[in-house]
Amino acid sequence: PRGATRDTDDVVRLGGIPVTELATQFGTPLFVVDEDDFRSRCRDMVRAFGAESRVHYASKAFLCGEVARWVRDEGLSLDVASGGELAVALNAGFPAARIAVHGNNKSVPELEAAVAAGVGHVVVDSLFEIDRLEAVAGAAGVVQNVLVRVTVGVEAHTHEYISTAHEDQKFGFSISGGDAMEALARVFEADNLRLVGLHSHIGSQIFEIDGFEIAAHRMLGLLREAVDKFGVERTAQISLLDLGGGLGISYLPSDAPPPLDTFADKLRVLVAREAELAGLPVPRIAVEPGRAIAGPGTVTLYEIGTIKDVSLDGGLRRRYVSVDGGMSDNIRPALYQADYHCQLVSRGSQAEPVVARIVGKHCESGDIIIRDTWLPADAGPGDLVAVAGTGAYCYSMSSRYNMLTRPAVVAVADGTARLILRRETIDDLLGLEV
Ligand code: LLP
Repeated sequence: PRGATRDTDDVVRLGGIPVTELATQFGTPLFVVDEDDFRSRCRDMVRAFGAESRVHYASKAFLCGEVARWVRDEGLSLDVASGGELAVALNAGFPAARIAVHGNNKSVPELEAAVAAGVGHVVVDSLFEIDRLEAVAGAAGVVQNVLVRVTVGVEAHTHEYISTAHEDQKFGFSISGGDAMEALARVFEADNLRLVGLHSHIGSQIFEIDGFEIAAHRMLGLLREAVDKFGVERTAQISLLDLGGGLGISYLPSDAPPPLDTFADKLRVLVAREAELAGLPVPRIAVEPGRAIAGPGTVTLYEIGTIKDVSLDGGLRRRYVSVDGGMSDNIRPALYQADYHCQLVSRGSQAEPVVARIVGKHCESGDIIIRDTWLPADAGPGDLVAVAGTGAYCYSMSSRYNMLTRPAVVAVADGTARLILRRETIDDLLGLEV
């Protein structure tokens, strides 16, 4: 995080507070969110894409009431992908008109809740859903704005499980197969739906712009065809080109994501050029960053519980450092072979660095947080390690595997720490029993 410091006397602070104090006050494992980092990334996005564009924070990366209010106050819109995310956002006072609703299988109650709240738009993802939403909007007596989600045939340069735009997958309508045009026609037939834009999301943790260029090209090609087919008048309100999320972040010191301003400028230029080529007015751009806003500013603090030096073939040994969380608070290494970086933060150490594997406390050998890292040889039980860049898709994908209780989340800013999600307790586990 931007607000992380290590003094000459080796006191590590987050948002001005020594990590040892945070651990004592709130316990471990602990997610520590640097509020200024989160907020300034929101502002950077708005500045980089310009006032005429729309920036939606993808709440799936990490959402709670406090985060929804930061996003609201910084002037962004919000993407939700379930009734639960919608409820948390509304409960926090997020203005419904700035909420967009995603998902490939929104239930009727979810659509009803969205329409009743007056969400800005719903991103429709199947013909069934178009009919369902038409019925829901009709029953409510409203005309609901929608985007049609399309697949543009791009596979972003990222891990297989997180690329979502090659055509043989569950999201969106294929452009090349003609499904997208059929969806547009269906929306035009629906009296209670108003088509205001097109949407695509090509993947996540992307460092290159090429995929977005292809997406814009294909989407504007589709729009050109739609204008020719349905006429300028009927298509005039289709003004939003939503290119989804995906901007990558640095997890390791060696990662080099493109600077945000360069990325945003390139995106704006290429969309304008593609619109001109298609003979269309330049659309308003929307983007949906999740990871790039929430990811970098959070660290997870763990306490080391045990150390084990395991003998390997050839007389080698590997040091296993077990911490008090694991795959229940960060599934990403096990699920995507994601890499993380950590440091000993409870004190300084002059001891020689040794190769260590940071593992969790779950009953599974794949419960690895960092496969290979360096830690001082004297790091041991009671010491704290901080894993960086855990703000996106860690808490939000957390589980209660082995009945571990979810960690607390604390926000730090200007030397003060505030609990924004309390730690789960054994009573929370027992509370589900009937
Ligand atoms: N918009 C849509 C429609 C999405 O599906 C996603 C992410 C985003 C925006 C935000 O993408 P971001 O800017 O955060 O890359 N669990 C995976 C990532 C899955 C992303 C799913 N959709 C991970 O931990 O890497």
